[in-house]
Amino acid sequence: MLRVVVMVSGGGTNLQAIIDAVDNGKITNTEIVGVISNNAGAYALERAAKHNIPALCISPKKYENRDAFNDALLEETKKFKPDLIVLAGFLVAIPPKMVQEYPEKIINIHPSLIPSFCGKGFYGLKVHEGALARGVKVTGATVHFVDEGTDTGRIILQKPVMIDKDDTPEILQKRVMEQAEWIILPEAINMIANNKL
Ligand code: GAR
Repeated sequence: MLRVVVMVSGGGTNLQAIIDAVDNGKITNTEIVGVISNNAGAYALERAAKHNIPALCISPKKYENRDAFNDALLEETKKFKPDLIVLAGFLVAIPPKMVQEYPEKIINIHPSLIPSFCGKGFYGLKVHEGALARGVKVTGATVHFVDEGTDTGRIILQKPVMIDKDDTPEILQKRVMEQAEWIILPEAINMIANNKL
């Protein structure tokens, strides 16, 4: 069984997609052993609790400095003994120490077709605002391994999504989630769990 820790910052719809896929057999050989959030108010924590998945908040506000937060994040993560860490809307830069501890064992979902609209400053709605401002006609989502850069790791899966002329960032965000993110993130985990990469 692949032991998966999911890291989240907000609503957790991608976490829900993973939970559902484990429940309905679209993801096999996998156990979600823990959920970690940097944000105590994240609805994702409630989603985890509803499914009896151990969940905890590690808030940077509770630590003296970034190094102390980064150390706590790594220590708490290690306790779950994960085989795979999934960043599902985790809006915290992963410390280099964590990347070195888990090489090609951390994956991230990003709401665009990398290398477009990615890197520093592109997260959440900002990604979709960028796509609409540039006037691209196609966007999508990408699952990739996490390395020490921002959105620079090896690409695992991508799925395109068409942009409509009447889209707002919010409407586009929802469509990208429904038509791409909630599909390719569980698919990538299932591939890793079954050695199909
Ligand atoms: C998702 O759209 C995810 O792709 C994005 O945050 C959202 C989280 O939603 N991640 C990034 O922008 C990372 N750079 P969720 O909490 O409902 O899954």
